Amino acid sequence: MSQEERWVDVGDAAELARTPVRQILVNGARIALSHANGVFGAVNGNCNHAGGPLGQGHLEGDYVVCPWHQWRFHRVEGHGERGFEEDVVPAYHVRVKDGRVQVDPKPHKKRARKPHSPHPLARSPERDPGPVRVVGISTTAMNLEYPRFSTSDALLETALAHAAAVGHPTRLIKLRELHFRTCEGYYSKAARACTWPCSITQMDATDQLDQVYEAFVHWGDVMLVATPIRWGGASALYYKMIERMNCIQNQVTIANRTLLRNKVVGAIITGGQDNVQGVAGQMLGFFAELGCHFAQFPYVAHTRGWSAEDMEKNVQMVQRSEELQLAATELCDRSVALADRLLQTEPNASPRAGRKGRHLLASGDGEAGDANG
Ligand code: FES
Repeated sequence: MSQEERWVDVGDAAELARTPVRQILVNGARIALSHANGVFGAVNGNCNHAGGPLGQGHLEGDYVVCPWHQWRFHRVEGHGERGFEEDVVPAYHVRVKDGRVQVDPKPHKKRARKPHSPHPLARSPERDPGPVRVVGISTTAMNLEYPRFSTSDALLETALAHAAAVGHPTRLIKLRELHFRTCEGYYSKAARACTWPCSITQMDATDQLDQVYEAFVHWGDVMLVATPIRWGGASALYYKMIERMNCIQNQVTIANRTLLRNKVVGAIITGGQDNVQGVAGQMLGFFAELGCHFAQFPYVAHTRGWSAEDMEKNVQMVQRSEELQLAATELCDRSVALADRLLQTEPNASPRAGRKGRHLLASGDGEAGDANG
């Protein structure tokens, strides 16, 4: 078919010129139609990165900015911004005839991808042989220059010291020592905008939550998560961490991929006041959604009690309590024993996580459409 026969009318030129960039469909293909300085441009609407809808983005100069993670493509020629010219989205000829905009649906530029070396976290989770590995995650906040005694940290350190003493490799991560951004809600734009590795991790080399991802997805078998109780909930740093872990759960939804298998989580919860059960319920519910397992009696906890305001005595109480220290080591032992059994039996994870009644997006039928278009 000649080009003259291919032109597709997409609308009134005066009307279309009013919007800098918009998404249109041409013969079923999603196209980002733009207008600036009296010139129309048309490029494929599926971003090279993760299929974001370029037509729903905005213009910066002559570049369409993807609304998901801000990759930029020339609105007429389709190539990426400076340094990324090898990344190209298909570009289409556009003309105005008799006051109507017409697009040739046969691209004059083809899609091309600049090779991007995969992020180290993107490798397939494959466990190296060896004894069960135990990760401790401290979520309590404090002044790094003038640290204080933390009851949840103390019990976590007791558990890790015990694990090391009986031959298990251990790693301790203190969230307060990491610089990491809050979740910026990519999932709230579209499920596919929340990527693995995390979109922030991929775009910001200074973000240090990669240490937590590495521990959960690749290195650890047992994760002991310690938190204080703050106003009846877990610590602010705990929530800051788990919001960023949406990308792990989201892989089940968008890629039918269960990143966490045979992982055991135990919780250490301490507070001056109460609500242990509420905090434990939230923590176990979250890690259950990620596909983690739990030993019998999966948390140890302590509070001083609703009426007590003598927190200095609470510190002494935990420091002196052999029962609490024993409970922390026993939680570690139970979790290690379960992880050991899981590693020996390699149970199959449900292919679609099993927690929702309906099938999820995994096969590519989501909003993003076909990123190869
Ligand atoms: S920048 Fe477009 S999908 Fe990520």
